[in-house]
Amino acid sequence: MPIESREIRLTSRPQGEPSLDNFSFATVEVRDPNVGEVLVRNVCLSVDPYMRGRMNDAKSYVPPFQIGQPLEGGAIGRVIASQDEKLPLGTYVQSMYGWREAFVAPTANLQIVDTTVAPASAYLGILGVTGLTAWVGLNHIARLKIGETIFVSGGAGAVGNAACQLARIRGCKVIASAGSEEKVSFLREELKVGYAFNYRDGDLLEHLKQAAPDGIHVYFDNTGGPQLEAALSALRNYGRIAMCGGIAGYNTPVPGPRNLMLVIGKRLRVEGYIVSDHFRELPAFLEEAVPALKSGKLINRETVAEGLDAAPAAFLDLFHSGARNIGKMIVKLSD
Ligand SMILES: NC(=O)c1ccc[n+]([C@@H]2O[C@H](COP(=O)([O-])OP(=O)(O)OC[C@H]3O[C@@H](n4cnc5c(N)ncnc54)[C@H](OP(=O)(O)O)[C@@H]3O)[C@@H](O)[C@H]2O)c1
Repeated sequence: MPIESREIRLTSRPQGEPSLDNFSFATVEVRDPNVGEVLVRNVCLSVDPYMRGRMNDAKSYVPPFQIGQPLEGGAIGRVIASQDEKLPLGTYVQSMYGWREAFVAPTANLQIVDTTVAPASAYLGILGVTGLTAWVGLNHIARLKIGETIFVSGGAGAVGNAACQLARIRGCKVIASAGSEEKVSFLREELKVGYAFNYRDGDLLEHLKQAAPDGIHVYFDNTGGPQLEAALSALRNYGRIAMCGGIAGYNTPVPGPRNLMLVIGKRLRVEGYIVSDHFRELPAFLEEAVPALKSGKLINRETVAEGLDAAPAAFLDLFHSGARNIGKMIVKLSD
């Protein structure tokens, strides 16, 4: 029996900061699955900063969202009708068919997730692409070594909190910034980072000097902007920067760091990366992350927005300093 599904579409492209007007809701009929397909009802959705780039009509590493079409994004759902014995009823699957309640898809487009290991939503956060992004940035881009000092901007966010935890577990000294006192307390008390500060409070470089008088070995950059500039000044000779994101400039570009030439004098290595180039590393990452999560060394922190109606606002909020999300922002739909 076909079912109805509500979905969120892009209605217009933002100039600068996006708003609720850029989104619209529609109800569509989802047909029964054909052979080799399943019908899935989403249980939770991911909203992510990179989706802002997809709202522009610009060539990038992922194609732009199309006006009038449903948005795409990470989602976890449950199979409610199956025409493929590999995915029986009740199986939890991961897909890119987010921003909607239900969909039909070929089983080849879906990955099974094991909800006996962790709740389904963890596969959008700490055990998913988010956690992998942190792990790749630390291991392959920054090549972080045991005992080094690392500064993580956006430390209380989805990728940032994973990076802080993985670095701390490795025996590194972790310095982290965030945009509210509540987040700074989370970093200090729950993530047990060595030094946490509110980047909106006080001089950035003074914080870094206080935290690491001899300088930092690695900067894990989630924000760009003034924090990148301060990190360049705080880095030691031969330091490394893993350029993961630059959210300070996603809506309105920010000027580059005025001290960029320090890259030369300090012989720094600055490397950007896109996590999808490293998806083959997911099993190796999970081999480390799953036992750490089970033993409690790694914690899964998320902030939940309830219902599809809440998705656009949850997304828009990510772009504010002091945004409400601690850990991964998840939109919960059904059980
Ligand atoms: N390279 C890759 O493959 C890859 C993959 C995933 C994510 N990323 C990037 O990683 C970064 C973090 O992504 P996420 O999914 O973990 O998001 P997130 O950190 O959970 O959420 C975004 C956070 O950005 C902070 N923020 C917003 N405006 C800011 C500003 N003007 N200056 C400084 N911070 C600001 C807010 O935290 P505060 O309250 O602390 O300000 C907000 O909570 C993003 O830049 C994203 O694009 C890259």
